Amino acid sequence: MSIIFDKSQKSFILQGKETTYIIKIIRDKYLSHIYWGDRIDNPVVETMMNASGRSSFHGNSDENRSLSLDVIPIEYPAYGNTDLRNPAYQIQLENGSRITDLSYDSHEIVIGKPNLEGLPHLYDNDNNTETLNINLVDSLIGLKVVLSYTVFSNYNVITRSVKFYNEGKVSLKLLKALSMNVDFNHFDYDFMTLSGSWARERHIIKRPLAHGTQSIESRRGASGHSENPFMALLSKNATETNGEVYGFNLVYSGNFVASAEVDQYNTTRVSMGINPFDFEWLLEAGESFQSPEVVMVYSSHGLGDMSRTYHNLYNNHLVRGKYKNEDRPVLINNWEATYFDFNEEKLDNLAKEASLLGVELLVLDDGWFGKRNSDNSSLGDWFVNKEKLPNGLNALVDKVNSYGIGFGLWFEPEMVSPDSDLYRKHPDWCIHVPDRYRSLGRNQCILDYSRTDVRDYIIETLSNVLLSAKITYVKWDMNRNMSEIGSKMLPANRQKETAHRYILGLYKVMEEITNRFPNILFESCSGGGGRFDPGILYYMPQNWTSDDTDGVERLKIQYGTSMVYPTSAMTAHVSATPNHQTGRSTSLSFRGDVAMAGNFGYELDITNMSNEEKQDMKKQIEVYKDMRRLIQYGDLYRLLSPFDGNITAWMYVSKDKAEASVFVYKVLNIPNDGLFRFKLDGLNPEYLYYMEGTDQGISGKQLMNFGLNMPLELGKGDFRSKLFRFKAIK
Ligand code: DGJ
Repeated sequence: MSIIFDKSQKSFILQGKETTYIIKIIRDKYLSHIYWGDRIDNPVVETMMNASGRSSFHGNSDENRSLSLDVIPIEYPAYGNTDLRNPAYQIQLENGSRITDLSYDSHEIVIGKPNLEGLPHLYDNDNNTETLNINLVDSLIGLKVVLSYTVFSNYNVITRSVKFYNEGKVSLKLLKALSMNVDFNHFDYDFMTLSGSWARERHIIKRPLAHGTQSIESRRGASGHSENPFMALLSKNATETNGEVYGFNLVYSGNFVASAEVDQYNTTRVSMGINPFDFEWLLEAGESFQSPEVVMVYSSHGLGDMSRTYHNLYNNHLVRGKYKNEDRPVLINNWEATYFDFNEEKLDNLAKEASLLGVELLVLDDGWFGKRNSDNSSLGDWFVNKEKLPNGLNALVDKVNSYGIGFGLWFEPEMVSPDSDLYRKHPDWCIHVPDRYRSLGRNQCILDYSRTDVRDYIIETLSNVLLSAKITYVKWDMNRNMSEIGSKMLPANRQKETAHRYILGLYKVMEEITNRFPNILFESCSGGGGRFDPGILYYMPQNWTSDDTDGVERLKIQYGTSMVYPTSAMTAHVSATPNHQTGRSTSLSFRGDVAMAGNFGYELDITNMSNEEKQDMKKQIEVYKDMRRLIQYGDLYRLLSPFDGNITAWMYVSKDKAEASVFVYKVLNIPNDGLFRFKLDGLNPEYLYYMEGTDQGISGKQLMNFGLNMPLELGKGDFRSKLFRFKAIK
């Protein structure tokens, strides 16, 4: 059993594979957080409580006097009592009061993991999980709050979410409803986030925790380019292979907050959930509100182990549908090859040439619909542009298919251009505030997905296109964030629900479309990686990692992304040089080696390339296909970080440890540089590994303890890389 309620100790003991989490009921009312860390069997909880001599301005924690919650680690802190730290929730009553007083009421432990209605979530089809629901009640106002914890018995993972029920007679207003809170008893940690911008997503940022609140958030209506809904606390000695790390990832694609508050007693309060900024939710009598869930991963073996836990978990318990665990195709996308300037002939040539090199899919990107020849118009008019494709989609798809490759199509279904038939017909269908200016982003407005009529229209329109031709892949793009947020259909007292309702609507549309077209591989995109989060991965198993396809920039972007997200979720393309985003020129081989560390593809005009380059591409594709399974679903070990120096290395090891591929990249050449070698990881120390092209077996022990000498091929010139492939004899 993963979860037990120890009656004598009034404690919930949650046992993951190698981790334990403990909550204790104190004074028969409050839930106190006791422990989260390496596994402890038969814990004596009484001895784990803080012997608190700390006094607070409110009084002591002395049992005989009034209890100060300010000095106690609290499981799900309220606003308005003696805990003056950051509350996890806040509710306004009809009389204007914001005071609630929850008491432990009851609990249940169930086998499995119930679904989260209307929200993406991890799932467990094999009953290898147990779920604890703790019911807290404020009987004065009829509020029930259920804290849910699921323990995956084969992982060091706990998922948490919260559900609010209004069982009273009058309405309540949620002002804040975070998904989780953990109080740590010290602040000797680094706070790690994945931060960046468009074309520079998910760079690793680490800072020591300090007194006060450090947080990341999104107020843009999407998880965003600038902050990913992920944070981790790292012990000071934490590395890729050692030290304690606590990871938190919110399964949500909208406004979020993740924060760590260090208080006067040097304790750290970590919390995460929907951003309370510009959020309210009216809960009428009888209604309930479900928070998104947080995936909490613990490791005492460093960041690499944490990441592999997230990767396996997401591959097995988040991603759904036909392409879960399926090889992902090598594709060519016409965006950077043609931008808006294409016609049937151009696409036909691209597909023909690409098929000869081993590419498996042509993706027709932006510009195939309405009168879209630039980003000024036509979003919403999802009918084929007959000037560019006079014979329609079907004729093009037939041609593409005749070369033995599949066809994919780009949409941006959440948007509408003011210059479109759809907008002219339904100007109130976008997110807006009456009488206010509607700011544009990339010349477009956002369709109000909180509205049923808008959602229904989009579902039907997209379905018609997808039924009109043999489309096996969809790239679902989203290219602006929210401004002037409001919905025409919501009453005044619900306007602050718009952003969350939008995300709930988006999930409904994604659920419906992906259910209707189970054979289509969906790739999500948001100006590159502007909505790369587990919420979207629940519907669409892969994500365009970044619009920045420069090999050097991609090292950091892909390294950072891999902190949480599996390789199978990350798409990576070889693009033209000089690179369109950075102007940098690098070799085809360097660009290929970087892009191969993801779902591989091309995004350049191969019809202009020399025969020699095409032969190199053909070889790259052959190599990739030969190790695709290993890359997409193997275990990732990060060896050298692009954030720490000039050389980056990572490797993929098959689950049975019989195969490994190691990539090493050098950014700049350093003349007369020192000798250098690096150690491999994740191999079986007892196996003999044969490096491709040699007949000398080297033990896993040697490769992991001595390592590999810096390959000579990296010695000359900038932007060099090398792939080593190993096969083991057991
Ligand atoms: C932004 C995406 O990230 C690009 O890959 C491309 O699809 C453009 N949108 C098309 O407008």
